[in-house]
Amino acid sequence: MDKQLFIDEIMRLRIEKNAVILAHYYTDSEVQDIADYVGDSLVLAKWAAKTDADIIVMCGVNFMGETCKILCPKKKVLVLDLNAGCSLADSCEATKLQTFMNEHPGYKVVSYVNTTAAVKALSDVVVTSSNAVKVVESYPKDEKLIFGPDKNLGTYINELTGRDMLLWNGGCHVHSSFTVEEVCSLKRAHPNAEILVHPECPKKIQELADKLGSTADLLKYTQTTSSTEFIVATEAGVIHKMREAMPNKVYYSVGNVCDYMRLNTLEKLYQALATEQPEIIIDEELSSMALKPIEKMLSLS
Ligand code: 13P
Ligand code: SF4
Repeated sequence: MDKQLFIDEIMRLRIEKNAVILAHYYTDSEVQDIADYVGDSLVLAKWAAKTDADIIVMCGVNFMGETCKILCPKKKVLVLDLNAGCSLADSCEATKLQTFMNEHPGYKVVSYVNTTAAVKALSDVVVTSSNAVKVVESYPKDEKLIFGPDKNLGTYINELTGRDMLLWNGGCHVHSSFTVEEVCSLKRAHPNAEILVHPECPKKIQELADKLGSTADLLKYTQTTSSTEFIVATEAGVIHKMREAMPNKVYYSVGNVCDYMRLNTLEKLYQALATEQPEIIIDEELSSMALKPIEKMLSLS
């Protein structure tokens, strides 16, 4: 089948099955273009929470599909490829987190949304990079907190909030591999470009940032600043929406892509809608435990 036929079939099936298609900013442009909603982790969770569709198709990675399922346990939640994991979510196993919690009684756990349902179920609250500072600041200054799994994001939040959260030593393989040399060589080639950095990047990259923030924050920034050139130190997929909103500005990608996000294709989107597979299934008790910290986040942001 050629691409246009996939597109036609996706259009037909989503109406026939009352399905909503959600896509993360990191997916390929053709997947973003066909989605009903494109957003960062926070916005995608909010859309999932309020949709009246019968089927949610999450174009992203598995933890995003799980978040949708936890928020909408009665709906069918599909992803495009169950191999679309996340190295950051994989860097924190629930059993290891439980051991760490046992070693630190009296601590509450603040978990980044890039975690498995089992880790969320152990958490007091979930955060995304868009709302992490606000959510952490909702706790009293002297509250004992564990933050995980992203150490770089945790360091950033500790600095911004003046907290001393215990940090899990996890990370994302895409953002951890950005180097100062790569960013500086782009800056030498384009001295007027502003450097946009996601807080999952290492501290030495964060220090080079003109703007540090979630994918949604970075996208908004490109639309509000007078600068016209940007060096983008996060997954390159986000440039699609930047370019769409501000086509006359210029974007230089530091280059790293998330192979998990690249598993989302138009063909797999068509297949998911046609076969209603692969479906995200979560144990009911686990799901209701994981719901509480997600709902707490949504009530705070
Ligand atoms: P956002 O919360 O900024 O969408 O980021 C999600 C993610 O996976 C970053 O690597
Ligand atoms: Fe996970 Fe990193 Fe990919 Fe984001 S970019 S989905 S944190 S592996």
